[in-house]
Amino acid sequence: MQAWDLTIKQIQEILADAPSDISALSNLSAHLYEVMDNVNWCGFYLTEGSDHLILGPFQGKLACYDIDFGRGVCGTAAQSKTIQLVDNVHEFAGHIACDSASESEIVVPLIKHDICVGVLDIDSPTRARFSQQDADALQNIVTILMNTTFRKRYLF
Ligand code: SME
Repeated sequence: MQAWDLTIKQIQEILADAPSDISALSNLSAHLYEVMDNVNWCGFYLTEGSDHLILGPFQGKLACYDIDFGRGVCGTAAQSKTIQLVDNVHEFAGHIACDSASESEIVVPLIKHDICVGVLDIDSPTRARFSQQDADALQNIVTILMNTTFRKRYLF
């Protein structure tokens, strides 16, 4: 089981020191990719305009650049503003297969002032890799991220 308490402390320090949003997202994807077992892709898609996502900082194989809101697991999370925990990606209608090794996936929307500014996407080559405990911890991490980033672009 993941030692989320320690990871969350580390991430608080990593994010507190970040000089820019891109630096924060880059180091966060690198750290999660390093500490999570059985993960083959970990990174961000960022909202461009109001209805599509473009590839942001990540670790793993090359990925598609552009995902419309409502498409795939990422677009569903962005449109619905809810976490998508998918035990078997082959059963998710519209799943976008960037890495054919992926079997399960979790996507956490990044919400700032009630607007979806992007998503955190993590893939695994193992079915049902992500637990509800992982979802809760990742939601916590994204909340910390949103409290320390996206201040300039989304200051209302
Ligand atoms: N599987 C995602 C696409 C992004 S890749 O996994 C990196 C989806 O269905 O939205």
